[in-house]
Amino acid sequence: MKKIILALDVDNVDKAKQIIRETYHFIDIYKVGPILFIQCGKEIIEFINGIGKKVFLDLKLYDIPMTVQRAVESAQKLDIFSLTVHSSGGKKMLQAATSVYNHPKIWAVSVLTSTRTRTTPATVIKRALLAKSCGLDGVISSPLEIDLIKKECGKNFNVITPGIRLNNNNHDDQIRVATPLYAINKGADFIVMGRSILNSKNYKMVLHNIYQTIQDN
Ligand code: C5P
Repeated sequence: MKKIILALDVDNVDKAKQIIRETYHFIDIYKVGPILFIQCGKEIIEFINGIGKKVFLDLKLYDIPMTVQRAVESAQKLDIFSLTVHSSGGKKMLQAATSVYNHPKIWAVSVLTSTRTRTTPATVIKRALLAKSCGLDGVISSPLEIDLIKKECGKNFNVITPGIRLNNNNHDDQIRVATPLYAINKGADFIVMGRSILNSKNYKMVLHNIYQTIQDN
């Protein structure tokens, strides 16, 4: 599967569909987060599934165990590929999520990549190990912690990294960032990219250049 997950961070279903059509050949998994989901959740998920692509539903669930379990059941009915929960929701909440029969891949947010303070590698590892012990499939983490997580949790435990920036663009609100090449070389299973692509004038060219950089190294 292609390594870049494209974050559809737009609040308009037509715009989202246009982005998907333009990036179709470069992307297998589209990330639907709260901005788009609140506007047109089911419609965009059915559209993405209907054209043979996969949905990563990034709602970062954090609630009482029963609510999270029922939210996962609800997501499962929409036939999505993966979804996110917050690892800080704790063991009972994470176990409730994975108790759902035939659930999509569940990835836990370890620490947000916009966070600067109170983030130590030890915190990230503790949360990743907790997620693994509760049966989750992987974690969303900063590119700076990929190798550590793979070392502690094993290579089959997915690491998905946002906070990806091309060399020459700014960080926006992301703090713990790295380039696509760095993240892939460190062992990321997928990289999540939004603004670096969506703010460019030519999505295809940016995506083409990133894949070339990744493959040439
Ligand atoms: O635009 P940018 O490339 O920064 O987008 C990153 C995407 O990844 C956003 O949709 C954001 O919600 C998401 N994300 C993140 N940090 C996490 C988890 C998800 O930036 N820990």
